[in-house]
Amino acid sequence: MNISRVAEQGLVLLGCGKMGSAMLAGWLEHGLPAASVWVIDPYPSDWLKAQGVNINTPLPESPAVVLVAVKPQMMGEALPAIQALGGGDSLFISVAAGTSLATFENVLGADTPIIRAMPNTPAAVRQGITALIGNSEASDADIVLAEGLLSAIGETVRLDDETQMDAVTGVSGSGPAYVFHLIETLAQAGEAHGLPPELAMKLAKSTVAGAGALAMAADEHPSQLRVNVTSPNGTTQAALEVLMHEEEGFPDLLHRAVKAATNRSKELSRE
Ligand SMILES: NC(=O)c1ccc[n+]([C@@H]2O[C@H](COP(=O)([O-])OP(=O)(O)OC[C@H]3O[C@@H](n4cnc5c(N)ncnc54)[C@H](OP(=O)(O)O)[C@@H]3O)[C@@H](O)[C@H]2O)c1
Repeated sequence: MNISRVAEQGLVLLGCGKMGSAMLAGWLEHGLPAASVWVIDPYPSDWLKAQGVNINTPLPESPAVVLVAVKPQMMGEALPAIQALGGGDSLFISVAAGTSLATFENVLGADTPIIRAMPNTPAAVRQGITALIGNSEASDADIVLAEGLLSAIGETVRLDDETQMDAVTGVSGSGPAYVFHLIETLAQAGEAHGLPPELAMKLAKSTVAGAGALAMAADEHPSQLRVNVTSPNGTTQAALEVLMHEEEGFPDLLHRAVKAATNRSKELSRE
């Protein structure tokens, strides 16, 4: 991460809850001086107070970056604190779900470079994936700067169009919850077939984590990895015949789940 400009001009973080703290921890670890960070948060956590950053003090005039990490429903209340920084040299980055670039432009001015990003909860262990898109004022250098900052919580991907953000929300934003539910139900199924609860949970968690790690590390497509572990007429094939059933299995179920989340994301951004 190129932190020298941010270190020199400063970074303002609006809202330092789960997502804000995960990012801040990464930046400080990468060498961003605590004195270069200004945090606005009504109830700073003990962890935040121990970091040596500026908390709820007057802001620098032209910080390199203003990062917005408050809940979308707090946005109206929180944005006035940084509104005066709009229309200058500061790059705005928002990780708030459902708040559009146009909403920020209305508050900050359309001449403000703004990047909208959608992270996910594995950010807490630096294994998140964040999709990002900038408004027409955001330059390539701005996107690169945002990617550098967001890489503190995992991988980043660029979108071509803001409308993709709803489907991104349906796949990676909400996706960790689908996988948590997979772990829960896999463990419950193990219990139903005679395993003690703790053992079933351990097997389910490690299987999902291990398969995820293998899918990330392998050159083969996940479909091929699946084929590799499916011997004809074996145990895996017996299970996959249930799971891969066109109407009753994963294909239709996940399609409907992602559709529901995507539609809800569209509705929320209109509210
Ligand atoms: N968590 C995720 O996995 C995830 C994924 C994708 C996107 N996001 C987005 O990330 C954003 C932050 O989520 P989060 O999970 O980090 O939420 P969070 O833990 O609730 O953090 C929000 C922080 O903002 C503070 N805050 C509230 N009102 C404020 C104000 N007027 N001015 C400044 N700060 C204020 C909150 O303080 P109090 O706690 O004292 O109210 C809290 O510390 C959300 O917009 C969410 O959509 C989160």
